[in-house]
Amino acid sequence: MRTVNLIADLRQQVKAWRQQGQKIAFVPTMGNLHAGHMALVEQARQHADKVVVSIFVNPMQFGPDEDFDCYPRSLAADSVKLDQAATDLLFAPPVEEVYPRGHGVASQIDVPEVSEGLCGASRPGHFTGVATVVAKLFNMVQPDYALFGEKDYQQLQVIRRMVADLCFPVDIIVVPTTREADGLAMSSRNGYLSADERETAPKLYQVMQQVVQGLAQGRRDYAALEQEGLGVLEAAGFVSEYFSIRQAGSLKLAQPGMTELVILVAAKLGKTRLIDNLACSLVE
Ligand code: PAF
Repeated sequence: MRTVNLIADLRQQVKAWRQQGQKIAFVPTMGNLHAGHMALVEQARQHADKVVVSIFVNPMQFGPDEDFDCYPRSLAADSVKLDQAATDLLFAPPVEEVYPRGHGVASQIDVPEVSEGLCGASRPGHFTGVATVVAKLFNMVQPDYALFGEKDYQQLQVIRRMVADLCFPVDIIVVPTTREADGLAMSSRNGYLSADERETAPKLYQVMQQVVQGLAQGRRDYAALEQEGLGVLEAAGFVSEYFSIRQAGSLKLAQPGMTELVILVAAKLGKTRLIDNLACSLVE
């Protein structure tokens, strides 16, 4: 695996591959790679001749009181994992390479509607930071395919909408959430959990499964289902941010008659903020 830090080196390599007629798949990450990321890399291999992975902890998507400074950074270990997974190129730029004038003055991409509410409400500016850096990375790498995990469901819809609205010539490939044996969605932030919190954390997935069961049994009292979900989480020690049943894709509030739904949840356990989601198809 080759590692480059500069856009010019990245472009030179990608150009050479393109001249040989090779297709490129891209996996953007913030590093601290776990099995969920490696599933994206594995899928990338299936779609293209060359796999490019970026590791960049994007300051623009963190709020002033969030964990940018202490976000886990493990470039050496990540490099070994990517090399073992037959990644062709690792792009690990410094902040100044991505934001030479500082991210506060960078041109920005706002994606309305799907970025509003849910994480968009509690993390103002977060999705503008995500959309902007993903657009920049797409322009740097110019991939044929880009892979994103379903775990960050709202982020995925923001990126899909941006790609459609701005006509990026990139196919977005979605990879299902990778879970621990007890159902906890893999996340770089799981490492923040204490042993006790780690035991409680799978409750998030269990509660969503219970709600899906309720929907499958014909319940359509969405607000009551959401309140029940919140109640179970609070009783288990979570401080909930939202528990919401939405239409899959559009993220509109669930209405009777909608058959493709997704349950989205964000909650804190101690200092650790966890998010997860579970989609379901209903027969009306
Ligand atoms: O999902 C992530 O790791 C980040 O939000 C992304 C897409 C790499 C943009 O910084």
